Amino acid sequence: MPIVNGDARGLLSTNQGEIRDYTKALEVLKEYPDRDGLDVDTLLDSDKHGALTYNDFLILPGYIGFPASDVTLDTPVTKRISLKAPLLSSPMDTVTEHNMAIHMALLGGLGVIHHNCSPEDQAEMVRKVKRYENGFISEPVVLSPKTTVREAKELKAKWGFGGFPVTETGELRSKLVGIVTTRDIQFHDDLNQPVTAVMSTDLVTAPAGTTLPEANEVLRSSKKGKLPIVDSEGKLVSLLSRSDLMKNLHYPLASKLPDSKQLICAAAIGTRDADKERLKLLAEAGLDIVVLDSSQGNSLYQIEMIKYVKQTYPEIDVIAGNVVTREQAAALIAAGADGLRIGMGSGSACITQEVMAVGRPQALSVRRVASFAARFGVPCIADGGIQNVGHIVKGLAMGASTVMMGGLLAGTTESPGEYFVSNEGQLVKAYRGMGSIAAMEDTKAGKGSKDGKAANAGTARYFSEKDRVLVAQGVSGSVLDRGSVTKFVPYLIAGIQHSLQDIGVKSLKALHDGVNDKTVRFEVRSGSAQAEGNVHGLHSFDKKLYS
Ligand code: IMP
Repeated sequence: MPIVNGDARGLLSTNQGEIRDYTKALEVLKEYPDRDGLDVDTLLDSDKHGALTYNDFLILPGYIGFPASDVTLDTPVTKRISLKAPLLSSPMDTVTEHNMAIHMALLGGLGVIHHNCSPEDQAEMVRKVKRYENGFISEPVVLSPKTTVREAKELKAKWGFGGFPVTETGELRSKLVGIVTTRDIQFHDDLNQPVTAVMSTDLVTAPAGTTLPEANEVLRSSKKGKLPIVDSEGKLVSLLSRSDLMKNLHYPLASKLPDSKQLICAAAIGTRDADKERLKLLAEAGLDIVVLDSSQGNSLYQIEMIKYVKQTYPEIDVIAGNVVTREQAAALIAAGADGLRIGMGSGSACITQEVMAVGRPQALSVRRVASFAARFGVPCIADGGIQNVGHIVKGLAMGASTVMMGGLLAGTTESPGEYFVSNEGQLVKAYRGMGSIAAMEDTKAGKGSKDGKAANAGTARYFSEKDRVLVAQGVSGSVLDRGSVTKFVPYLIAGIQHSLQDIGVKSLKALHDGVNDKTVRFEVRSGSAQAEGNVHGLHSFDKKLYS
């Protein structure tokens, strides 16, 4: 087909069906004073385009001169701490407890442990993250000598695996007395007998401190299915499983501090006096980063808390927020914040903008705050409103160093809570805003904590103790099953790498530099452009995102 674009200078014009003089095209391009598309400041000029958020714009493609796998995503999350993937899970009680925090860190990101629980429970979660050793099962299912064969069979059916250690008290950190294997109980008909009647007692164990390769070697040579790890008093501390040996146990991106074997751990607290006590327990448990959790962070209380943390725990980095304006950010940076969390009203379970009339469209918020904070070397988190890989890249392009997700991760196996079947027959998990009536009532009643203690006067991100009426800023609902973060996060990472390749930048720093020097260009999307950019005109389709 002939290409005739009607350009007076003959750029790309041909009646031969081919472009004959490509170098000429590049030369002619030089005659254009500006690059195609908009620079970031023109894009975000609210007089021209209104206040934009992620769906309102696109990034123009650049030049691909490298494979996507060459794109590196190293990025700071605070002034001192960097990650290999720019992904954080939100401190919400339907998103991040220790299991999510461990897996986010293993995969190169970071999970921020929520505080809608007692300080002791939260500190225990921090401890679990810091104690976690890849490959070792740090919370094995443990039986007591009184457990019956029937119960052991039921547990095997529930968990889908056998091989349970038996300890004196039925708990971890108690003396190991045996192991019940699938073979021990499979054909045993006297279901009321205790497991001690069938368990194996000729145990092969390894001492605490054994490295993963050493432990794997013992497993291999002993031909056993499970290897209990015990301390000097014979108490069970963890377990290694042969079936895990078959799996890929390597997490090359794992978030660790230099020279440390432990995963980086972050947790959220409020800004009241009681939170100082909470922080003390978290610090003793080994916390690395504390996130001050307020929906409007520019307050006297937060400024004082930042100063307190910096003075009392110089080894812990403080992420302050949330903010959406430069002025808010300036106050928190001046108080000593090591990182900022940006977003107000953009969360998927959030009704703040509707109820409080306060907030800001997220893309604009991120750009305004992040470009300001960059002048002080303070990294920013784009928090809320992330629905897909494209939103992540746009948040990063606006200047954020990392993004934080709630709803997108709430449906994964690693989030707290059980799956259930919705009325429409789909597998879902609960997800709720921390300012939903349900979450706030649980906070007040102390239901967030296993021991039933008043959860936490300081959790109150969305209410104060003196409030007689709880005003909701969030909703509670459910999200679809997304499988495990061990598949989902690598998909997000690969998606970001491909996107940066299309933009023509090889790293997040190059993306930030390109946006700032105006070589990375943008375009505003009209309503019909948005419709065009989504699947349209199909009778039906299956939207499978990765395999
Ligand atoms: P999502 O990723 O869009 O679901 O947004 C998660 C973010 O929403 C969190 O990190 C919080 O900043 C914010 N958030 C959590 N709960 C509430 C709420 O009840 N109201 C408003 N914002 C909330």
